[in-house]
Formats: sequence, structure tokens, C-alpha cells
Amino acid sequence: MSFTSMWDALAPVGRQADGGYGRFAWSDADLTLREWFAGEAAARGLDLVDDGNGNLLAWRGDTTRDDALLVGSHLDSVPGGGAFDGPLGVVSSFAAIDDLDARGVELDRPLVVGAFADEEGARFGIACAGSRLMTGSLDAGQALGLRDRDGLTLAEVLRARGRRPEDVGPRPDLLGRIGTFVELHVEQGRALDLDDGAAVGVGSAIWPHGRYRFTFTGRADHAGTTPMDERQDPMLTYAMTVLAANKQARLLGARATFGRVEVDPNGTNAIPSQVRAWMDARAADEGVLEDLVARVTSQAADRAGRDGTAVETTAESVSAEVAFDAALAAELSTLLDDAPVLPTGAGHDAGVLARHGVPTAMLFVRNPTGVSHSPHEHADETDCLAGVDALSRTIEHLAGAR
Ligand code: GLV
Ligand code: MN
Ligand code: MN
Repeated sequence: MSFTSMWDALAPVGRQADGGYGRFAWSDADLTLREWFAGEAAARGLDLVDDGNGNLLAWRGDTTRDDALLVGSHLDSVPGGGAFDGPLGVVSSFAAIDDLDARGVELDRPLVVGAFADEEGARFGIACAGSRLMTGSLDAGQALGLRDRDGLTLAEVLRARGRRPEDVGPRPDLLGRIGTFVELHVEQGRALDLDDGAAVGVGSAIWPHGRYRFTFTGRADHAGTTPMDERQDPMLTYAMTVLAANKQARLLGARATFGRVEVDPNGTNAIPSQVRAWMDARAADEGVLEDLVARVTSQAADRAGRDGTAVETTAESVSAEVAFDAALAAELSTLLDDAPVLPTGAGHDAGVLARHGVPTAMLFVRNPTGVSHSPHEHADETDCLAGVDALSRTIEHLAGAR
């Protein structure tokens, strides 16, 4: 199967009317993508292993060795996401295997194609849930108790899909067989587009980032009869917090986004009783990230005091800064014709495995607008094919017979 025919086969899965994707963990679309993955693995004679957390690992070569080269990414999406964030890395991995086979390249090391479960954390709130569970950096009991927006726990969802929640947890046995991880991903910025002529770049680092839930509690009341100075309106505290986050992020050269909000009771003519909102915050440096969160939290608390409301903040998932293996990044940059080496503000399973001690690298494929987590996310087909070529050369370089 060529890159293009695999890409076309995936295009309708989970696609919404506006062209965006809703491919949440364990949804029908996710199950279809998993079946597709199993089919592509079988077509290449790869041995498929599901690690119990939903991470799919398709192996070629000796599964008892400890130096396998893992390539891949994820298949799930954010709500209204693009086609490329995740699937590009998985499809490119299968296409790179085909390219290696067509070129008759023999490999010395086992090769594994991976698709990590629930990378976006769009359903249960925790980013990179699959890789975190596999490495043990997310506790299985905590994960199984997480609820989606319909109130279902992960354990309930897994059972409904015929899976065993008891199988969720760390897999040191499988991780111990992986010597290196290379994740290819669409770039989620415009650094490559602005760098004349580079279709592919190499990752250097991931910014520290986190998701913080703010719960603003006030008093429900009538929108017409309650005088303005007698309200305890949590929407006001929320609104000021959004503005404060934006201002503080600008002042600190960081990023802060409120992209999800829930209101109770959510009626046009009722003052809300509660507003729950999620802040995604990121910075180049951990100290700056902590400072940003502290400033926003403290301004929210001050404002709550003035509004007669209460605010509680919970860190739902925080990821420390990741520096990818610098020697490996330099080696791949040289191999790939002096490809630019760049950091990213986006989180990845590559970061989780790198923090776990697996030598890890990322390849980024140029995104002409830089837009991501949106139906407008895009990479030109010629650049995607350049990505496949780069990944194939990378695999040959790292795992090829000498
Ligand atoms: C993943 O795409 C993230 O950075 O949120
Ligand atoms: Mn993403
Ligand atoms: Mn991604």
C-alpha cells in the first residue's frame, strides 16, 4: 500500500461535516483506526501486541532482543482536530517499511511500529495516557477512575469495549525491548516553512506544559430580578481569569489557553451556580510555567474575593520539560541533509518515553500554515513523502545491517 492509498483509506474515519476529526479514545472511530492498524501490520507480516493499555505495537524481528527501534505516533485526535496530528507518523511508519523492503534494506535490529492510545487525552483529560500508563508515570487505578464527559469511567468504557481493565498498567517487559524511539509528526508551527527549503526537521526539546482545571462556584439566581450588586456570579470570576491568563502569558513570553468550559445550569436567564474551565499553559522554562500558573491562580482568587465566589484549581496533567537525546538529534540532522533542529510547544508520547529513559528523537514534517488542532491543519503530499523518505533513511541508519 502506498502512503497515499493508506492516507485515503483513513480520511473518512471520524471525519465531521466541517472536515475536522473526532477520533477519541475507544470511540467507534478509534476502534476502526485500530482495525486498520491491525490490517496494515498483518499485511506486512508484523506481530501485533496490545500492551493492555491500548497501545498497539507491531513487531518485525526478534522479539526477545532489547534494542528494537520503535517508530510511530498516535491515531486519536482532539475535538475538531486535523487529519495529520498523529496519523501522519503511523502511516509514514508503514510506508517507510515498504520503502525499506522495496530497496532491499536488511535490518540488524528488530523494528516496531507503534500507535499510542489516547495521546490527546481528549476524552479522559490526561495527555499521553497510553504511554504514561505503559511507563508507569500514570497510576493505573487513577486512570481507570477518570470520567469522560458522559460520566463514564475509563474502566467502564474499556469493559464495554470487551477489554480487561485489570490489564491496564506498566509494561517494563515491553519497554525493556525498545532501544530507541523515533516519532514522526506534522510540525505544529511554522518554523520549517520559514526556514527556506526544509521539508523535514528534527526535534530538540518539548516545552514544559500542563492542564489545570478551575472550578468557579457562586450562587444561581434570576437574571432579571437579581440586582447587579447582589450577585455571586462565577462567570465573572471565570471571565477575568481568562483575561488574566492571556495577559500574564504575554508578559512572560509563555502560552495560556482556555479552550474548554462547562457552565451549570447553562441557562440564558439564570446566573450560573458553577463554571468549570480548563487552562492549558506552556512555557520554554519550568520556572516560567510555575510563575504563570501562580500568577493566574492568585489573580483568580483575588477576583473571587471581590465577586463573592470561590475558586479551586487542580492540576490535571503536568509534563516536565523534555530534552531529546542531543547526540541522536545531531546525528539525524546530519543524516537528513542538515535538517533544522527545533523545539516544540506541543506534547508527544516521544516526550513520555524520553523521560522514561528511552533514547528518543522526533522528525517534524513542514506545515505551511503552522495551524494544528484544527480542520485547517495541513502538510503537502510532497512533504509527507519527504517525511517517509526521511524516516526510511533514519531506520536504515539506526537499524540497518552493517
Ligand atoms: C498535544 O498535541 C498537545 O500538545 O496538547
Ligand atoms: Mn495534538
Ligand atoms: Mn500528536
